[in-house]
Amino acid sequence: MDESRHLQSDSSEAQLDMIIPSCEDGVFQKRGQKTRILTPEEEEKLASDQILVSDFKQQKLEKEAQKNWDLFYKRNSTNFFKDRHWTTREFEELKACRKFADQKLTILEAGCGVGNCLFPLLEDDDNIFAYACDFSPRAVEYVKQNPLYDAQRCKVFQCDLTRDDLLENVPPESVDVVMLIFVLSAIHPEKMHLVLRNIYKILKPGKCVLFRDYGLYDHAMLRFKPANKLGENFYVRQDGTRSFFFTEDFLAELFLSVGYEQVVNEYVLRETVNKKEGLCVPRVFLQSKFQKPQREM
Ligand SMILES: C[S@@+](CC[C@H](N)C(=O)[O-])C[C@H]1O[C@@H](n2cnc3c(N)ncnc32)[C@H](O)[C@@H]1O
Repeated sequence: MDESRHLQSDSSEAQLDMIIPSCEDGVFQKRGQKTRILTPEEEEKLASDQILVSDFKQQKLEKEAQKNWDLFYKRNSTNFFKDRHWTTREFEELKACRKFADQKLTILEAGCGVGNCLFPLLEDDDNIFAYACDFSPRAVEYVKQNPLYDAQRCKVFQCDLTRDDLLENVPPESVDVVMLIFVLSAIHPEKMHLVLRNIYKILKPGKCVLFRDYGLYDHAMLRFKPANKLGENFYVRQDGTRSFFFTEDFLAELFLSVGYEQVVNEYVLRETVNKKEGLCVPRVFLQSKFQKPQREM
């Protein structure tokens, strides 16, 4: 989400050997890693940041979560997030779960924002029907106004994933792939299981949730100033939107507790390098796939 740079690289020589260049210039990516190793300065910074935002303010942030995201889209319109063309590249399952090449797939993008994931997917693949939802009315409106929006291929609706039943808009067990891209991190950790339960009902047995979100010790986590901490690995930005940073174990427990099975759950470590300025930004994401169990025969 935020791509600012800093001067430190966390990579030792040994780790650098394992870095695999990705398709984008100046970005290096490695998968299947353990948690990023912090520098002593970073460790000290996190250890000293122990004071939590007051309960009163935390409750206000929870109450105003929808309003704060809606204001975010009012300020940024459709210009903030880059189109996420890596979705099809990274999540090959979107294609691989087909039994034959032009089989129609039904997907749900939960927390779609203004459609930065959705539209590249629909453009890349004619055989997709997409449901998409977000709790920001403005974001939903931007999706509807996009020239690529086609009601034959897409249905977008407003929905608070923690509260509104997805069954009001999506038939039970009708979806092949659910995408949760940088959405769960915006939701209070105590309510994340409600989102996963909601999704479970519309997912076909044997089909998957594809997840990508912030991982523990991502650069964005290290940049929070004191007084922005809400809880363990949970922070609030200046604009009132919140961000959680996931560990593999936390995510696995969350999905398994709702009844999903783990297929893949791994950190993706990236370094965005600006050679000219000698800057390097360590990013950590968690990229995962959890399946609704097949029905017993
Ligand atoms: C970081 S943005 C990601 C948007 C989009 N998935 C993308 O990758 O560009 C997080 C989105 O989650 C939405 N969101 C947060 N909490 C939600 C909730 N409880 N129900 C539905 N959407 C929510 C926000 O409105 C926002 O659009």
